[in-house]
Amino acid sequence: MSLFIKKPLEQLLSQAGDSDKGLKRTLGAGNLIALGIGAIIGAGLFVRTAAAAGEAAGPAVVVSFIIAAVGCAFAGLCYAEFASMIPIAGSAYAYAYVTMGEFTAWVIGWALVLEYALASATVSIAWSEYLNNLLGGAIPYEWSHSPFEVSAEGVRGFINFPALFILVVLTLILIKGTKESANLNAIIVFVKVAIVLVFIALGWGYINEANYTPFTIPEGTPGHDNWREFGWGGVLGGSAIVFFAFIGFDAVSTAAQEAKNPKRDMPIGILGSLVVCTILYVLFSHVLTGIANWAEFKTAGKEASVAYAIQNYMPGYQWLATLITVAILAGFSSVILVMLMGQSRVFYSMSKDGLVPKVFSELHPKYRTPFKSNWLLLIFVGLFAGFVPGSIAGDLTSFGTLFAFVLVCVGIWVMRVKNPEAPRPFKTPLVPLVPILGILVCSAMIFSLGMETLVSAAVWMVAGLIIYFAYSKNNSNLRKEG
Ligand code: ALA
Repeated sequence: MSLFIKKPLEQLLSQAGDSDKGLKRTLGAGNLIALGIGAIIGAGLFVRTAAAAGEAAGPAVVVSFIIAAVGCAFAGLCYAEFASMIPIAGSAYAYAYVTMGEFTAWVIGWALVLEYALASATVSIAWSEYLNNLLGGAIPYEWSHSPFEVSAEGVRGFINFPALFILVVLTLILIKGTKESANLNAIIVFVKVAIVLVFIALGWGYINEANYTPFTIPEGTPGHDNWREFGWGGVLGGSAIVFFAFIGFDAVSTAAQEAKNPKRDMPIGILGSLVVCTILYVLFSHVLTGIANWAEFKTAGKEASVAYAIQNYMPGYQWLATLITVAILAGFSSVILVMLMGQSRVFYSMSKDGLVPKVFSELHPKYRTPFKSNWLLLIFVGLFAGFVPGSIAGDLTSFGTLFAFVLVCVGIWVMRVKNPEAPRPFKTPLVPLVPILGILVCSAMIFSLGMETLVSAAVWMVAGLIIYFAYSKNNSNLRKEG
């Protein structure tokens, strides 16, 4: 039987409709937009904006955000068509199963682990760092770092306890219920968006127009030798850095099986959250690079860039700097929450198909959430969060995401050719132009990730192939039925 055996669309749709036994349909359009914003606004905005300005784009980082947003919009439009057409928990994995066959679906499901599980681990480590900042360094080094890290004073880390703590808390909430998780997410989203808006509104009055000239980093600036580090090339380089800030809108599609009216609300959730965040990002980066000069972000206040700008240029607003740290902690928590949820939903679909063990789709008798999967995931993600340094996983997250984006764009095109009659509540405009542009932009970003990331990703993908041929292929329900 072919490696590329495809799942019939009708079979997938009947599986999605089987909601008496399956996941509960509790989420409306507002919840879905909030879920998207919950997963999107996090380290990318609060940490990477200043990094992109200082390292590559200068004040033109605003344009970098627009470029990354356009790239995401191509993929987002394709996701919206699939999510309204195939409202099932597996997202890109499930779409690939109908369009490009089981093997490709497995590859994409495996790549999504890089996105969702590793993003949860990376962001939980960043959460731990910020908590310790807020507490003035009260948590001892050995209890807030992995054994691979050593402090300037020679203290070796033992375990990253705060990172594990936040993962356990969020896992418990996820198990309790999707509605409960969505409600908590909505509160967090309200807090973080409000604080971002306050920063934009108050910071606007402290913009120094001189900081916008020159608009891009001039050629010949010391330390900016590569074409991606100055001029308009730097603006492109900056877009690859801030791409991380957009990761997460696709996580909305993993909740398709829990949406009350997925045909209408999925496109609203995916595209709505993308639009809201793009507007916030453009305003935020404009204000940040207007308050402080981009060159300062090369050295001073690199990580805590927003607090740095406030403390140095907005006298009397120390409280806002503290609030920003609270917004960051809140923002990180919702990113972790939605990413953990996304991962368990992708495994739920893969397990229903027999490609990963049944335990990943067993639902809690009362809460109807995949609780065993949530626990197992906690162990996996927790091992990374507790015992591995944070720097390892960030770019791998971008790889997994971009890889999924490319395959979703390809899938939309394939589906239009092979299955033109299937009902499409939302249609991606200008096919094949939009998918082709999506493929080009996302592939370009993949290749700008750097060799080390690409090699690590290749190792991960090879491990996935071994598991596929050793386990999944033999246990595939579709093959057993066929
Ligand atoms: N977009 C998410 C963040 O910026 C992953 O943290």
